[in-house]
Amino acid sequence: MWRTKPLDAILATAEKKSLKRSLGPFQLTMLGIGAVIGTGIFVLTATAAQKAGPGMMISFIIAGSVCAVAALCYSELASMVPVAGSAYTYSYAVLGELMAWLVGWALILEYALGASAVAVGWSGHIVGLLDSLGMHLPHALTVGPKMSFGNFLEGGEPGGILNLPAVIITVAVTALLIIGTNESATVNAILVAVKVAALTLFIVLTLPMITGHPEHFKPFAPRGWGNPLDGKGVGVLGAAASIFFAYVGFDAVSTAAEETKNPQRNVPIGLIGSLLICTLFYLLAAGGAIGAFGAQPLADANGVAYAAGSPELAQRCLEIGAHAPLVCSKEALAYVLREVSHPVFGNLVALAATIALPSVVLLMMFGQTRVFFVMARDGLLPTALSAVHPKFRTPWAITLVTGVVVAIAAAFLPVGTLADYSNSGTLFAFAAVSLGVMVLRFTDPKRHRPFRTPFVFVVAPLSILGCVVLFVSLDDKSRILFYSWTAIGLVFYFAYGFWNSHVRRGVVDVHELDDDAPPGSVAPMPGAPSPTDRT
Ligand code: ALA
Repeated sequence: MWRTKPLDAILATAEKKSLKRSLGPFQLTMLGIGAVIGTGIFVLTATAAQKAGPGMMISFIIAGSVCAVAALCYSELASMVPVAGSAYTYSYAVLGELMAWLVGWALILEYALGASAVAVGWSGHIVGLLDSLGMHLPHALTVGPKMSFGNFLEGGEPGGILNLPAVIITVAVTALLIIGTNESATVNAILVAVKVAALTLFIVLTLPMITGHPEHFKPFAPRGWGNPLDGKGVGVLGAAASIFFAYVGFDAVSTAAEETKNPQRNVPIGLIGSLLICTLFYLLAAGGAIGAFGAQPLADANGVAYAAGSPELAQRCLEIGAHAPLVCSKEALAYVLREVSHPVFGNLVALAATIALPSVVLLMMFGQTRVFFVMARDGLLPTALSAVHPKFRTPWAITLVTGVVVAIAAAFLPVGTLADYSNSGTLFAFAAVSLGVMVLRFTDPKRHRPFRTPFVFVVAPLSILGCVVLFVSLDDKSRILFYSWTAIGLVFYFAYGFWNSHVRRGVVDVHELDDDAPPGSVAPMPGAPSPTDRT
């Protein structure tokens, strides 16, 4: 189980594939922003407000900083091993099969549950948009049922049955992925422009209102820093652990390393550039929301703040009804504009999110299918899963399984809970990549590194430390879910993957995704340039 997949075999395939190096720093940054801006800022701002109040601005900085150091570590491995599978593939080459399996298993949380979270975020916007146009969907069909299983799972709302719009968007994206989509760089650029325009509109309208309401910033951190050891996942650190979701997706840039001109220079520019731009937008948008409308947590009669995502908070919000605090909204930014400015502006922001969020769902589900595909081809998952559709020539079986998982999670769970679960997996993968980059400096010091992480023995430990701090700052539910998920993964590995691993059986030739499958069987990474864009 400590066996590794030889780097040379992986690289030989990448060279054979030899994609045209056409991406420059601008396209890479656009790719990063396209994958990053989504439910995190448009929706989870409300969750972060319940956890930290105005102090969520610090949470945005903390989460962004952890991502920045992790991104520097990603850049080195991505430039050395520019092949499909991302963190899973890097771990297989450096840390061995067991770690690779655990990382791949954790990536299911990141991508599948992340896609569910964005689908639920989309649902909040379309429901709000239809509401403001006088079309009211039945409440029971817009939220999951109220449920509470002790420390393990909690969520839903009184009167809820399932989140139908979230299921519908998941089914639509799954169908699109099975038929085969080729979202071009141009489409990506347009969607980035829509998202950036919506955030800019929000910032321009709300920032001037800050001066009128200095009281909105007091108390600044009503729930303190938070105690990572108490399992409650609140305070500035608890909010940082949740809002971390808003930055996830920048690894799409590292996946495009082999299509990048001068990756040594451009991959870090794309990674750090998109992170910096997103951080700036996030800080201004969060500041605008707090200043214009206020973002204090909602507390019960005894002054105890409700747990974010709890049925009790949902119940209280239902009782308040119209003009409820920010923390009650399922479309935070659009809601703020409807309340403090003109409803038309709120609807414009909701419309922008409705148009742009499906592409984030698509990117995350695509990432999931790609990791599954590579794992199945390595023999760690049943090969039947990598079946290619005879007509559409896409990995339909894996896509269908992914779609069903994403739809079920999106139907029943609240957005904040899904994002926290997703973060637990992402943080594990980031930490593994940061460890891997250091290990490889010792085990293979002479290998050419197109990009070298600066001060790696400071940056990588900082990244691991940041991931650990954020992980322990998640609430009990998310951590218990992660441990249980990992335990199930270990059982699976020793029951199946350990015995069927191709590396164990001596099959070490490694194929890039597109090599095995018939031409066109796997869509290029959405957001990356299409063949026509490249020429
Ligand atoms: N960062 C992405 C979002 O916030 C996943 O939706």
